[in-house]
Amino acid sequence: MEEIKKKVMLSGIQPSGELTLGSYLGAIKNWVERTDEFDNFYFMADMHSITARQNPSDLRRRTLQQLAQYIACGLDPEKNTLFIQSHVPAHAELGWVLNCYTMFGELSRMTQFKDKSAKHKDNINGGLFTYPALIAADILLYQPDYVPVGEDQKQHCELTRDVAQRFNGIYGEVFKIPEPYIPKIGARIMSLTDPVSKMSKSDKDPNGSIHLMEKPEDILRKFKRAVTDSDTEHCVRYDPETKPGVSNLMQIYSAVTGKSLQEIETEFAGLGYGAFKPAVGEAVIETLRPIRQEAERIMKDKAYLESVYKEGAKKASYTAEKTLRKVYKKIGFVER
Ligand code: TYM
Repeated sequence: MEEIKKKVMLSGIQPSGELTLGSYLGAIKNWVERTDEFDNFYFMADMHSITARQNPSDLRRRTLQQLAQYIACGLDPEKNTLFIQSHVPAHAELGWVLNCYTMFGELSRMTQFKDKSAKHKDNINGGLFTYPALIAADILLYQPDYVPVGEDQKQHCELTRDVAQRFNGIYGEVFKIPEPYIPKIGARIMSLTDPVSKMSKSDKDPNGSIHLMEKPEDILRKFKRAVTDSDTEHCVRYDPETKPGVSNLMQIYSAVTGKSLQEIETEFAGLGYGAFKPAVGEAVIETLRPIRQEAERIMKDKAYLESVYKEGAKKASYTAEKTLRKVYKKIGFVER
């Protein structure tokens, strides 16, 4: 019987800080839920991380920790190709090619570039600017159908589509045009201390974000202290415009419990923020506890981690090289 080819999913996360609840709910949770349906490629985007200055030993540790966390979150290495971006040279190679098909104007419009260059005024390097061409390469090498990401990466996915369409327009159907795959709940988790800014690994305020490896007592303390809104009604009601703090907590609670926003409003009707905030904290603790424990266990098994990332690089290279060879041929490079 002919085997039915599964559709392909691909995504990556930069190991530039501790993984946050935002990355888990916006991206990884979705990856895990769809594992069986797709052929999956997930990577540690270490090459992207160096667009901001990194401490080398921290970068190495975080890259391996991130792999352990992917597995601990439920990404079975037998069903998902898990790899380190810099282990597959085709990313850098196609990245260069796509730099030549991505316009200066397009790169100038990227919000992430504008945000990051405002934050790191002393290091606005070329890599930070051309970063989206490398993202396009990361994606297009694997010909994915879907790219599961949080809301903030939508613009990069759209640019990837534009670059792919431009390339295909010149050379024929080389790249599949991928779709971003963004969750309905959890696509944009906000800081607990500043609910109009995104929860981020690089946040200077440690109380704004929750890390996957965080201790339960710290998680509870941060949720109890989370900024809620200064309106007078004090009720748990979803309204991101006027109640961004409570609405963010509702998104988090909904994403970890599976309850709808309506059900949450009913559950906490008449109870106020004093009951709601610790309930969110407890629900997050229960979600993260097994992940943290499993990641700690896996982190100790260096030989296992090495076998996973080596096998992952082998499998990823096989697919990536195929696309790269096709691209090189189309643009007129002499075959090796
Ligand atoms: P990064 O490392 O900033 O974030 C990793 C993933 O987590 C999502 N995310 C969030 N989702 C909801 N709420 C939040 N507060 C939150 N913070 C982060 C992001 O949307 C993302 O899905 N450029 C990418 C990494 C990358 C990539 C790729 C992604 C490199 N190449 C190719 C997809 C495909 C980045 O910096 O994500």
